Amino acid sequence: MTVPRQIHHTEPAGDQRVGMTDGDAGDLVHLRRAGVSLLLACVDDGLPVVLHWGADLGALTGPELTDLATALRRPVRRGAPDGRPVGIVPEHTYAWFGLPGLSGHRAGQDWSPRFIRTGLRSVEDSAEGADGVLVTARDETAALDLTIEIGLDQGGLVGLRAEVRNLAAEPYQLDGLTVGLPVPPRADELLDLTGRWCRERVPQRHPLTVGTWLRESRRGKPGLDATLLLVAGTAGFGFRAGEVWGLHVGWSGNHRIHAERTPEGETLLGGGELLLPGELVLQPGDGYRTPWLYGSYGVGLDDMSGRFHQHLRRAVSPRRRTRPVVVNTWEAVYFDHRLERLTALADAAARIGAERFVLDDGWFRGRRDDRAGLGDWYVDPDIWPDGLHPLVSHVRGLGLEFGLWVEPEMINPDSELARAHPDWILATGGRMPRAQRWQQVLDLANPGAYDHLLDRLDTLVREYDVAYLKWDHNRDLLDAGRPPTGRPGVHAQTRALYRLLDTLRERHPGLQIESCASGGGRVDLGILARTDRIWGSDCLDPLERQSIQRWTQLLLPPELIGSHVGKPRSHHTGRTHSLAFRAGTALFGSFGVEWDISTISAEEERELAEWVAVYRRHRDLIHGGSVVRVDHPDPALWVHGVIAPDRSEAIMALVGVGTGPTTTPGPVRLPGLDPDRRYRISALAPESTPASLAATPAWLTGAGTRLSGRALDRAGLQAPPLRPGELVLLHLHGERTG
Ligand code: GLA
Repeated sequence: MTVPRQIHHTEPAGDQRVGMTDGDAGDLVHLRRAGVSLLLACVDDGLPVVLHWGADLGALTGPELTDLATALRRPVRRGAPDGRPVGIVPEHTYAWFGLPGLSGHRAGQDWSPRFIRTGLRSVEDSAEGADGVLVTARDETAALDLTIEIGLDQGGLVGLRAEVRNLAAEPYQLDGLTVGLPVPPRADELLDLTGRWCRERVPQRHPLTVGTWLRESRRGKPGLDATLLLVAGTAGFGFRAGEVWGLHVGWSGNHRIHAERTPEGETLLGGGELLLPGELVLQPGDGYRTPWLYGSYGVGLDDMSGRFHQHLRRAVSPRRRTRPVVVNTWEAVYFDHRLERLTALADAAARIGAERFVLDDGWFRGRRDDRAGLGDWYVDPDIWPDGLHPLVSHVRGLGLEFGLWVEPEMINPDSELARAHPDWILATGGRMPRAQRWQQVLDLANPGAYDHLLDRLDTLVREYDVAYLKWDHNRDLLDAGRPPTGRPGVHAQTRALYRLLDTLRERHPGLQIESCASGGGRVDLGILARTDRIWGSDCLDPLERQSIQRWTQLLLPPELIGSHVGKPRSHHTGRTHSLAFRAGTALFGSFGVEWDISTISAEEERELAEWVAVYRRHRDLIHGGSVVRVDHPDPALWVHGVIAPDRSEAIMALVGVGTGPTTTPGPVRLPGLDPDRRYRISALAPESTPASLAATPAWLTGAGTRLSGRALDRAGLQAPPLRPGELVLLHLHGERTG
């Protein structure tokens, strides 16, 4: 028996992050970061397999790694095919009967590859996975090369992607390339999200049984129904309990994500881009690289989400700065663009303490309603004879930044652009795609269309010194073929969009961009690599928003989710809510106002200004802390909040979201605080304790109750009975105990 050789260590054994051995158990790679271990084995000459992805295994010596690999090796049952554990790119040839990782062919040949490893080396500080390995492999017969990158970032988030290259002289028809990560059999419950316009991110749970649970988007964007994450976990997992493994595809076009359990006893979470029929043909020498697939392990959903939050905070941090208070004109004026009306709105925005004014829709040529004008990105001279300058200088004069709404990929058939360039519109089958909101989609991969858009956006940003673009994408892609052939164009469209965003950002380094798609229809780590926040939903009803934000936070930290205070009576639900409930809900996001505040009462304005001040005072905490969502048995009461990284303070919300079965909801636990610290508990803002409370618990009326983090977690606080649409916001200020 050869003694395994430790071939790479980045840190001393006590805090070992990367261990690699090669011995009779094959090459073993042990990656460790932030409480997570990822153990990879190259058991034979094939692609690596994941032996463990989950809780940290501690620092392991070479012999210990080898013994563990032996312990985890699956026996081959008599009569069963001589397979091997499923690889990161699952291969049919090894008796894997689930979805194949690579699917494609050359006229019916080379369709079942068997990759032989040609290299394995460690990589450090790759862009997305800080510590990781790069595996190269080849199938000589199929004439294909495969490269796999897999790593763990500082927060323990797995980043994984693969690239296939055609080595033959004939083209290779690529039907799909997905990568996957196995989870243990104790993960037997699934959580994913669905949704629709104005009701994004609806959770659904079900057992993980034998078969495939597949979620796809064929909408040309992730979609309002996109799951954001597919989570497998141990039975009954919650926000704070149970082991969970969550997966996300970082791609803004068509995608697929799935959980599979085979009769052979393997469970795999996988995903990647969804390619349409004939969409990608690899010419000789051409390659295709998958988007990043991200995996997060955690004890409870909060822990799992936390790794994504940290990753995103690092990814957007170079361009991150304080999130300004936005006033957006959409639900304030819709298409009623008049200079006096808008300057009055800007005046009110300045009075309440807003910092950015965003002119939403309706400003460009022919755009008097949503039936015309998309594509004609010139300021409408009929409405704005002097351009946007009078408005922009007024806004700037008030000390506010100026932002502008655009929907670059879209075109109304009723526009100058569509009349001049009908050949720039995505279509197939010799017909126009069915309309949605009277609009069609521009072929961004067409150099003419691309250059035109880049020029228009660049010019507008330069001319008006635009600080912020709200980048919308309202329709789904249907029959999205590229003229003149009509071949599928979603992949090329997504790539071209990324190029467009990257180029604009390069030209305007200070420019911030919001990803909106009728609300949260384009939320993914691909778009967030090049934008600064997403629009959570077109629904501003705070009761709906509580749910939308809670589940959007499964992937995103609060500061990346645009959240606005709307008018008292919601445009979309017809329900009326207090300002405290509307503002106390928007507080846990990138805060804004979308309401005609030029006409509100002095009292409302004063109260709103107070809320803006509360947000501005606490935004560093809300935007930098860890998110807590409490598992409370009463479905009518939600408890959530944010705890500072050093646990010195926290803000918690007790929210009435319905009516419950009991008179009082009982004590609620406030977990995640420092057990050894005492916290002074006070109401965050006077208005955040509703005067209408049916009963006020003693701790909320006194001079300030002090409790340790341990007591708050283990015993908790009696929650007041709350009606739907009431909330209590708490500030917990930590004091060191002796
Ligand atoms: C979409 C967006 C809204 C608003 C309108 C403007 O619906 O989601 O926020 O910008 O377009 O037409």
